Amino acid sequence: MGNDSELLTVRDLTVKLATDGGSLEVLSRVGFDVPRGKVVGLMGESGSGKSITALSIVRLLPEIGSAIRSGTVMFDGVDLTKLSERELEKIRGKQIGFVFQDPLASLNPVYRVGSQIVEAIRLHEHIPAKAARVRAIELLRRVGVPQPEERVDAYPHELSGGLRQRVMIAVAIACSPALVIADEPTSALDMVTQRQIVLLFRDLVRTQGMSLLIIAHDPALLAELSDELVVMYAGQVVEHGPAKRVLEKPAHPYTMALLRSVLPADFGAVVQPRSLLPVVEGHPPDLRRVPLGCRFQPRCDSAFDDCATRKPHLMKLPLDQGEARCLLLGDKESSP
Ligand SMILES: Nc1ncnc2c1ncn2[C@@H]1O[C@H](COP(=O)(O)OP(=O)(O)OP(=O)(O)O)[C@@H](O)[C@H]1O
Ligand SMILES: [Mg+2]
Repeated sequence: MGNDSELLTVRDLTVKLATDGGSLEVLSRVGFDVPRGKVVGLMGESGSGKSITALSIVRLLPEIGSAIRSGTVMFDGVDLTKLSERELEKIRGKQIGFVFQDPLASLNPVYRVGSQIVEAIRLHEHIPAKAARVRAIELLRRVGVPQPEERVDAYPHELSGGLRQRVMIAVAIACSPALVIADEPTSALDMVTQRQIVLLFRDLVRTQGMSLLIIAHDPALLAELSDELVVMYAGQVVEHGPAKRVLEKPAHPYTMALLRSVLPADFGAVVQPRSLLPVVEGHPPDLRRVPLGCRFQPRCDSAFDDCATRKPHLMKLPLDQGEARCLLLGDKESSP
């Protein structure tokens, strides 16, 4: 639990959002660590709370009706949940770079990409515009944009999806942040471009000692990049541990189902239209009426009587292999 090797330590994070049907608890006591210089992958079905987790870390939740109800987000020794907006602004973009899931939220269509990178730099560093532009070109080169001296003056719509994504990564790393949070950074891209972006991230982590929290649906991508994996279901962490162990020996029936849902071919970079991929059978619970016991119980092949009524806690797996939230692992309360 949280020591010097951890750059980010999220504990007991509970978040509510306003919806048409009233206030909804979308994260329930979420916790995980991102060690320095490591890649942590966050996986789970659509709606499991991955983006809300990422946005909560830097407090970029929808302004109206959302709230962190409890929990701590320790980043480099500072609890981000306690900072003022002004203090947080100094950290966002400078110490924590963000690649948003929604591309429209990131690049402004009316400004040239270079000036958007320059702006990201000059927000935090007092350097002349000319020097910032030189750095913007260097950054574009660094993220693999060809002819960066020309592309620096392009508008976002003049670039392909893959190049725009590289520009967004350039913005995220412009101030050499210690942590980059990337929410589905490759899902809109073709397989070849996806692969290039994965290699780019890997290179950035290796050469700059950056930590990366990456959110993705695709286990193949996560397998390639991640040191650790965190699996979310219905607003909770249901399993986490070393990536290799989670992928090869998943401990939670949900993780098993999630991994089964990916065609083996998908692991070999073979193009598979997403619509053809089988999904985990059944539907995630309505967060207004989560099951009384285990949240996955109604869909679980291995459920037994108790699962409907007893809430499982995260149980430690042997040999430092992480934790899983399943009654099959016994129920001596470890962490909630
Ligand atoms: N702006 C919002 N207002 C109300 N509810 C929201 C809002 N954004 C997300 N939610 C709800 O919060 C829950 C978690 O959503 P989140 O976007 O974190 O899922 P996700 O795991 O990122 O899914 P995806 O893989 O589709 O991106 C969902 O139940 C979703 O309906
Ligand atoms: Mg999301």
